[in-house]
Amino acid sequence: MGSGTGSNAAAICAAEQSDNVRYHVTLVIASRPDAGIIDVAKRYDVPHEVVQWDAQTRAAGTEHLRNVLRTYAIDVLVLAGFMKLLPVEIISDLHGHVLNIHPALLPAFGGKGMYGIKVHEAVLAAGATETGATVHLVTEEYDEGAILAREIVPVRPDDTPNSLQERVKAAEHRLYPRIVDEFARSHAISTPS
Ligand code: GRF
Repeated sequence: MGSGTGSNAAAICAAEQSDNVRYHVTLVIASRPDAGIIDVAKRYDVPHEVVQWDAQTRAAGTEHLRNVLRTYAIDVLVLAGFMKLLPVEIISDLHGHVLNIHPALLPAFGGKGMYGIKVHEAVLAAGATETGATVHLVTEEYDEGAILAREIVPVRPDDTPNSLQERVKAAEHRLYPRIVDEFARSHAISTPS
């Protein structure tokens, strides 16, 4: 599920085709009708749904998302560039099987307002010598759940926010499919048919 370009979704779909993974991508959920992640779904021939809400329609949006997850019998919800807080009902419906990826080494450079290029700007402003990607469980707070894995990316003296973002994304694309696969295996998620 995501709101953006869907490069992580693409990496997860690609690994399903090329590697011996335990997971199956049943559905792509976009939180806006113009999200690039929809094109990823089409490219990999995965069904997609758009589920969106704002402050006024949050309850209806939550119900819609619940129904979609139930209809497709989703075991694990993998967030990849989802820009809102996930309603707590969804996390409890899925027994906590909700993963997210963050483009920094949590707990550093996480929390509200820390997303996209802002994360890499903050890393450079702080003079950090390394950054990376973190896969973690999702709770009702931003970037707070248990950390499942991290991949370190060195910061180079000539890095710009954009160059850093590009290198961190490459790390995300290696890390996320592997951790989704490990999560599916270790939680005995039903074998795809
Ligand atoms: C990634 O950098 C991820 O860490 C963050 O949002 C971005 C999503 O990028 N949560 P993409 O849509 O997968 O390209």
